[in-house]
Amino acid sequence: MAKSLIRDISLAPAGRLKIDWVRQHMPVLNVIREQFEQEQPFKGIRIAVCIHLEAKTAYLAEVLKAGGAEVSISGSNPLSTQDDVAAALVQSGINVYSWYNATDAEYKDHLLHLIDDQPDIVIDDGGDVVHLLHTERTERAAKILGGCEETTTGVLRLRALEKQGKLKFPMIAVNDAYCKYLFDNRYGTGESVWSGIMRTTNLITAGKTVVVAGYGWCGKGVAMRAKGLGAKVIVTEVDPVKAIEAYMDGFQPMNSLEAARLGDIFITVTGCKDVFTGRHYELMKDGAILCNAGHFDVEVNKPDLVAMATSRRIVRKDIEEFTLKDGRKLYLLAEGRLVNLAAGDGHPAEIMDMSFALQALSARYILEQAKKLTNKVYVVPKEIDHRVATLKLNSLGVHIDTLTAEQEAYINSLNHAT
Ligand SMILES: NC(=O)c1ccc[n+]([C@@H]2O[C@H](COP(=O)([O-])OP(=O)(O)OC[C@H]3O[C@@H](n4cnc5c(N)ncnc54)[C@H](O)[C@@H]3O)[C@@H](O)[C@H]2O)c1
Repeated sequence: MAKSLIRDISLAPAGRLKIDWVRQHMPVLNVIREQFEQEQPFKGIRIAVCIHLEAKTAYLAEVLKAGGAEVSISGSNPLSTQDDVAAALVQSGINVYSWYNATDAEYKDHLLHLIDDQPDIVIDDGGDVVHLLHTERTERAAKILGGCEETTTGVLRLRALEKQGKLKFPMIAVNDAYCKYLFDNRYGTGESVWSGIMRTTNLITAGKTVVVAGYGWCGKGVAMRAKGLGAKVIVTEVDPVKAIEAYMDGFQPMNSLEAARLGDIFITVTGCKDVFTGRHYELMKDGAILCNAGHFDVEVNKPDLVAMATSRRIVRKDIEEFTLKDGRKLYLLAEGRLVNLAAGDGHPAEIMDMSFALQALSARYILEQAKKLTNKVYVVPKEIDHRVATLKLNSLGVHIDTLTAEQEAYINSLNHAT
């Protein structure tokens, strides 16, 4: 029996159904699983996975196990773990340390258990495991061959460590692969954030004014889908180029204090902190809804909301009402944690199929290239990105052209004129 710290093993059958459902919609991972089963690349290798623990992540863990790995897993956010999925994974022989609604201390304890299983490879989402390996569990870092990072915020943290010369093992920035951010950050976040907001509030988006803070890969998707739902969309940015991009895409860029007066729904997706604070809450309309899709719950400043509120109460699952002195009410979704995961199921399975295919192949790459890699942040090799794209196209029944030798020579030649 696998080791575990979970809520309730009797929930396993419900979790199994969820995993089976997504598996049917993850054809790329299915091909990789078959290959792993035959080749057993991870035989004798321990892999620690710390990603939002829901069905798609569970399937990634099972694919790694099918490749011979001993897998341990924990969630990468205290509110995104699904207890039934966690239980199903324990039954399939994976060590699981995670439960929904963990306190900060419990969340950390889960990650420490993950690390104490002495992994050879870590797959992180947001950088919390790698952080602990560089602070409280440095003695465990020596055994680690390398790891993969899933999200923008985690990659930023890794690059900061690398810059200081402190990174203790090689890491692959899976987030920065084309088959990750072009689809996961843009279309995955774009769609799942709205799914999370709509199922949580049961309110209409059409006709409302939506403020999207941050016009990066995620913000573009969230704004695009808001427009599709019939909202008027305002974008706030700190990067002038991104602000022009938003303008040309048909959105209204403006500063956050101006936007604060106009918005009905505010969504932060910047990777920054204090995007909306007390200064903004002073100006917001009665009934405004606030939520966050960035990695950490610091984008919508909660301490300011709490300090300004004369009363607060939960009015519906994942909706907290804050009544301000003048009687206005502001609503915060999912405690300001990633709304698509804390109040939803995360990205669609077909999207995570590509992201997790990149993770699986990058983990194998680390193992095979361990002797050559140094303590740096690496991009995903182009061959892996292209393999995932090709497998995805195959699964869609789409065939594209290939260059003839003559075309290739033309493209690569200096003399294009003749
Ligand atoms: N919810 C999810 O499922 C999910 C998925 C992928 C990434 N993420 C997270 O979302 C965040 C954004 O990721 P991304 O890939 O879009 O990053 P990105 O770097 O492409 O974009 C971030 C944008 O925010 C802007 N920005 C920074 N500070 C700002 C501020 N104070 N006000 C307004 N704009 C500001 C930046 O200029 C940039 O354009 C990260 O924390 C990432 O880890 C979440």
